[in-house]
Amino acid sequence: MPHSGLITLEQFIVDQQSLYKDAGGSLSRIFRSLELAAKVVNRDVRKAGLVDILGNHGSTNTHGEDQKKLDVIANDVFIAALSKSGEVSVIISEENDDPVFIEGCENEKYIIAIDPLDGSSNIDVNASIGTIFSIYRRSSVTQAPTAEDCMQKGKHQVAAGYIIYGSSTMLVYTTGLGVNGFTLDDSIQEFCLSHPNIQIPQNGKVFSVNEGNYADFPQGIRNYIDYCKVKDKETNRPYGARYIGSLIADFHRNLLKGGIFMYPATEKTPNGKLRLMYECNPMAFIVEQAGGMASTGQGRILDLVCTDLHQRAPIYIGSSNMVELCVNMLNESAVTAN
Ligand code: AHG
Ligand code: MN
Ligand code: MN
Repeated sequence: MPHSGLITLEQFIVDQQSLYKDAGGSLSRIFRSLELAAKVVNRDVRKAGLVDILGNHGSTNTHGEDQKKLDVIANDVFIAALSKSGEVSVIISEENDDPVFIEGCENEKYIIAIDPLDGSSNIDVNASIGTIFSIYRRSSVTQAPTAEDCMQKGKHQVAAGYIIYGSSTMLVYTTGLGVNGFTLDDSIQEFCLSHPNIQIPQNGKVFSVNEGNYADFPQGIRNYIDYCKVKDKETNRPYGARYIGSLIADFHRNLLKGGIFMYPATEKTPNGKLRLMYECNPMAFIVEQAGGMASTGQGRILDLVCTDLHQRAPIYIGSSNMVELCVNMLNESAVTAN
């Protein structure tokens, strides 16, 4: 058996393609574009402290030149690469208020949602950041695409994944046949299979939440956070608190080690903070494929109806036993309160 590190992403995708009955190579071409964009953004992230790409979009550098924020650069790079694939008719991006319709690709069947740079508040302090992507198929390609074509439930995703620009750069994705992770080997500039068939442990020892907002959380979530901190040998409590403030980094750690990530609704933000199309849905698809769970607190994330391309959703995601207990505590306390 060859060393798993010798299987490149490209080879892996070609091998997997034969498992689909309508495999025409379109998805492979999209992945090739995503891979290329990921390498370009990775290069820019790696030199972010050396060249003028930190700071605010719209500000000027010492030479009086416009500075570009890294998330604007990442957005431009992913949109350009995906447009060139010739397979994508629309791109939904966190950085664009309206859907980006790709000229000349009106009849192509794929729709992509992206968060080009997730965790952007961490850029300037050199902590892990990432890119999130989600792929849908249009139900019909006889007409030019509309925004409504993009408003599909998460359960209809064809593929989803993320790139984490961390201590090493990884691409993790699913097409509904499990989850696989690839690490970028800098010396050959190839993503190589390093984490085949990722399974999230059913129980974890980590809870991830912005606890600064504790006072605003629903009572059930406060109860669950308190529960995480109680000493109990049998259930390995107290759990560790780990929160970077970069969904990708928090999610990736919990996916590999087990744990729960929460971004609850509060009275001020009844839909939480994270965006359904390019944050919650792709992560939910990945976690379910890895044997975990993702809930809004009321139901499965992947069943949520999309009414606005930039809508937000509360999210509880990670190890299945932890998410189940958290959601039960949330709902029990809601019932008692009524
Ligand atoms: P983005 O950088 O794409 O705007 O996303 C930031 C998100 C997410 O990555 C993270 O989990 C969350 O914001 C952190 O929010 P708080 O600072 O409110 O905890
Ligand atoms: Mn984000
Ligand atoms: Mn972002």
